[in-house]
Amino acid sequence: MVVIAMPSFGGRAPAVAIERLKKIHGNGANCVLVCVYGNRAYEDTLAEMEDAAKECGFMVVAAISAVAEHSIMPQYATGRPDEADRKQLTDFADLIAGKTGSVSMIPGNLPYKKAGGAGLVPKPDKSCVKCGLCANTCPVRAIDSNQFIADSKKCISCMRCMKLCPQNARKINGMMVSVAALAIKKACSVRKENELFL
Ligand SMILES: Cc1cc2nc3c(=O)[nH]c(=O)nc-3n(C[C@H](O)[C@H](O)[C@H](O)COP(=O)(O)O)c2cc1C
Ligand code: SF4
Ligand code: SF4
Repeated sequence: MVVIAMPSFGGRAPAVAIERLKKIHGNGANCVLVCVYGNRAYEDTLAEMEDAAKECGFMVVAAISAVAEHSIMPQYATGRPDEADRKQLTDFADLIAGKTGSVSMIPGNLPYKKAGGAGLVPKPDKSCVKCGLCANTCPVRAIDSNQFIADSKKCISCMRCMKLCPQNARKINGMMVSVAALAIKKACSVRKENELFL
């Protein structure tokens, strides 16, 4: 069983993740799709993943939507996955293990929702000690190894560099984050549950 997992960015799978998936030959192997989202909505993410996985020759047996702390606005889905999530996801795994045949229905629309970047590119401040960790771990190699500035055309705003920086030196525009947080406050304030599609 192959597990294909991606975060939902703006209700879509990150384009770079789909591009990378499409380089793999499924050869008919069973797969389970996992879309992780920050308690707002995952919209067309699983549908897009399903289409790409099938195009690669995988047999999609099941799909999961799972909630995790919002990587830009950690005040949403704080602390998730929690104990209840862990139990539920373990139960999902048991159900998937006994499943045969392709998944029946995965939610999502065609055409997919328009993709849009978050436009939040973390920048280093004076406390940067040029250790290089951010550049070495950026999933799209957007950060140069000299000044540790991210290329805004490559950056997917995943916030990994901000989380990993040992000096807490990388910052994003706080005003933009506050506006974005306000816009999704209502949608994020109710706890969403993980879902299993068999
Ligand atoms: C650029 C970006 C866009 C996001 N868009 C959404 C979204 O549309 N809906 C949602 O519920 N969460 C959204 N999130 C939250 C992530 O889906 C969630 O934090 C992520 O799945 C956690 O996994 P990660 O830490 O491995 O990235 C977004 C996060 C980022 C960085
Ligand atoms: S991880 Fe932080 S301290 Fe290290 S180079 Fe990047 S911004 Fe500078
Ligand atoms: S936010 Fe993500 S993609 Fe952008 S520079 Fe940092 S690690 Fe790279």
